[in-house]
Amino acid sequence: MKAIVREGRGKDLSNMKVRELPEPKPQKGQVIVKMAAARINPADLSLMKGMPGLKFTSPQIGGIDGAGTILESGDGTSPWKAGDKVFVYRKFSDIGTWAEKISIPSDWIAKIPESMELRSAGSISLNLTTAYDCLQELQPETGEKILIHGAGGGVGFMAILLSKAMGLRIFANCSSRDFEKLKQAGISNLIDYKRENFEDVLREEKMDYILDVIGGDTLIRSIRMKPKVVVSTAYSEVNKLHKAGIEFPAILKWIMKLVMSKYPKTAREHSVELIGQITGPNGKLTNQASALISPFASLVKTGILLSIEQIEKEGFPAKSLGNVISF
Ligand SMILES: NC(=O)c1ccc[n+]([C@@H]2O[C@H](COP(=O)([O-])OP(=O)(O)OC[C@H]3O[C@@H](n4cnc5c(N)ncnc54)[C@H](OP(=O)(O)O)[C@@H]3O)[C@@H](O)[C@H]2O)c1
Repeated sequence: MKAIVREGRGKDLSNMKVRELPEPKPQKGQVIVKMAAARINPADLSLMKGMPGLKFTSPQIGGIDGAGTILESGDGTSPWKAGDKVFVYRKFSDIGTWAEKISIPSDWIAKIPESMELRSAGSISLNLTTAYDCLQELQPETGEKILIHGAGGGVGFMAILLSKAMGLRIFANCSSRDFEKLKQAGISNLIDYKRENFEDVLREEKMDYILDVIGGDTLIRSIRMKPKVVVSTAYSEVNKLHKAGIEFPAILKWIMKLVMSKYPKTAREHSVELIGQITGPNGKLTNQASALISPFASLVKTGILLSIEQIEKEGFPAKSLGNVISF
């Protein structure tokens, strides 16, 4: 079978090459999935660079998420059957979805809504779970107000659909080129981050929650708006790294905590609860999120597709972040 493997580190995907590998054999507690599609996520670029404490296998197949169809349901201990269409999502310590077939623990996968196109599902798996994990932390009530940064991007747009399903009042801060997509999702409170300051636009609106995926100045300014809770995927709480299978050495955890200390410090000064979110594969969470966004399945678009054959011939395009590999 064809697979995209890591042949050296780099800051982009130029060292990821298409190779012929033996097909995976079913292992205990795992299912075999015929992959349909997998998004190129920011995490994939981090993985190309390598991370302290992260060991790669040889050959190392790339990719952390995607979607496909179950070919073999394993040792009979899982509820899955051949033909089921599923989201797949792996840990950083066990990546490998960029292949025609993969073997994956049965509790890391989740059911795709029937109304959703398989390739579209492959473009949202990690982001759907991450956005839901963030919103679960907030436990919002119907009618409460949420500001979502990066609302047109991977995590942000899933947070938009989930917040819609939860009946929240949504304010979206994003690039103006995503306005149309957000309007189609019924979002009318739109802020163009390149032209407007979200604090100025929302001067008269007290937010209950802010969901941030940008970090830096955006996260600090969000905390200063004094919502009840700010949850951010760009601020990492070191005690949650294990969820994604990341095991940093103690010294690195200490440095990370130090570098990020400005965020909790600002939160304490403004009496705001700040949650740094790290998400890992969790089939139960993804199933709940999948059921919630099911009515909005048609709003999930696949985006730019790159076939594995095209990548084999031409390599990855220079700007392929957010594109979706099709198998
Ligand atoms: N902690 C976790 O477990 C976890 C999981 C998934 C992702 N993440 C992290 O979350 C972040 C977002 O991931 P993603 O896949 O959603 O990325 P993405 O698809 O690139 O989306 C980011 C979006 O933010 C917009 N944006 C950029 N600067 C902005 C600003 N100042 N204000 C408002 N919007 C802005 C971008 O618009 P433009 O098109 O104008 O650039 C883009 O649409 C990444 O850092 C990723 O590593 C963390």
